Amino acid sequence: MTECMRTKIAGIGHYVPEKVVSNHDLTQYMDTSDEWIRERTGIESRRYAEKHRETTASMGAKAARIALERAGITAEEVDFIIFATLSPDYYFPGCGVLLQRELGVTNKEAGALDIRNQCSGFVYGISIADQFIKSGMYKNILLVGSEMHSMGLDFSDEGRAVTVIFGDGAGAVVLQPTEQEGQGVLTTCLHSDGTHAEELAMINPGSHSGYHLGTEKFGYPDVDVPGGTFVTQTMVDNNLLAPNMTGQLVFKTAVVKFPEVIQEALHKTGLQVSDIDLLIPHQANLRISQFVQKSLRLPDEKVFNNIQKYGNTTAASIPIALSEAWEAGLVKEGNLICLAAFGSGFTWGSALIRW
Ligand code: UT7
Repeated sequence: MTECMRTKIAGIGHYVPEKVVSNHDLTQYMDTSDEWIRERTGIESRRYAEKHRETTASMGAKAARIALERAGITAEEVDFIIFATLSPDYYFPGCGVLLQRELGVTNKEAGALDIRNQCSGFVYGISIADQFIKSGMYKNILLVGSEMHSMGLDFSDEGRAVTVIFGDGAGAVVLQPTEQEGQGVLTTCLHSDGTHAEELAMINPGSHSGYHLGTEKFGYPDVDVPGGTFVTQTMVDNNLLAPNMTGQLVFKTAVVKFPEVIQEALHKTGLQVSDIDLLIPHQANLRISQFVQKSLRLPDEKVFNNIQKYGNTTAASIPIALSEAWEAGLVKEGNLICLAAFGSGFTWGSALIRW
């Protein structure tokens, strides 16, 4: 390994579906209001993918093509794919190989890794890519975060607290080695705590068969039916195939963990909050980002938010926001960019990147 070798983001892109769904549109399906959604989350609209024509992998491919072009490389040059999503095309195989096929990555030796870290998937992906690049194993890593939430939400009143938050979209980056002084990923910090795993989760379908961990709180799938491991009639009949969230617990934990993990990254690199040029937090809820901004005493122009337009796109939210910020000229060479995420697991993390 070259001592001074670091990982840089060589190209970035994003894709959001055309269909805009306003808060008002959601009132057709559930008892909610534009006022409630804006006040509690800051969200004004979100995008929904076109059913049967778009998938998590196909949206990821659209974002990836832009990232590849901006990095000045072709799909054939990609030697490793990392795909982060909680809403994959298939139960298995993962989206990584589907992306490889869709993009025409002809390098059949290329590896493809799928990661399931939900809201912090992109930050985990940056960290994984960074290790592979620094070790000299790969030279062109394609990291994609993509989500198609609209296919898996509960549009009844019961699901409203979760459903109004989430949206679809994809973001991608190409990571490469750099020896340019000071440039690249300076550090990443990754954490998890499974104590509250079911508090922000979609536990069905799964292998837990209803008697494991904290699942009784969220209803039992069939326990005594052989072969009932995956989707069962009970799950369908009892509306157990949707995500659930204990919103206040997630909120309260997030506003502590975001600043903590950002400070940890700064401490590791001997930098200060005032050195950050742009913070791109995972777009979970505008109120969470505002809490984090306040607790770090960052001015408005140093925090990028676009949740108002897209809602929470989980693993895609950071790369979409980073790509938009880059396109708007807010990410310039030499800038210190801080990425931070918190979500289901719970898992959380941060990355400091000198652009
Ligand atoms: O990426 C990480 C993932 N998630 C998050 O970061 C989410 C973190 N949590 C949150 O963002 C907030 O907890 C929510 C936005 C999800 C909910 O806001 P809240 O202020 O915590 O509301 P709540 O769940 O305590 O509910 C307050 C009221 C309840 O009614 P009652 O019992 O007071 O009569 C809910 O039934 O709001 C009601 N409510 C709604 N009303 C209209 C819940 N969802 C809705 C809705 N529209 N969509």
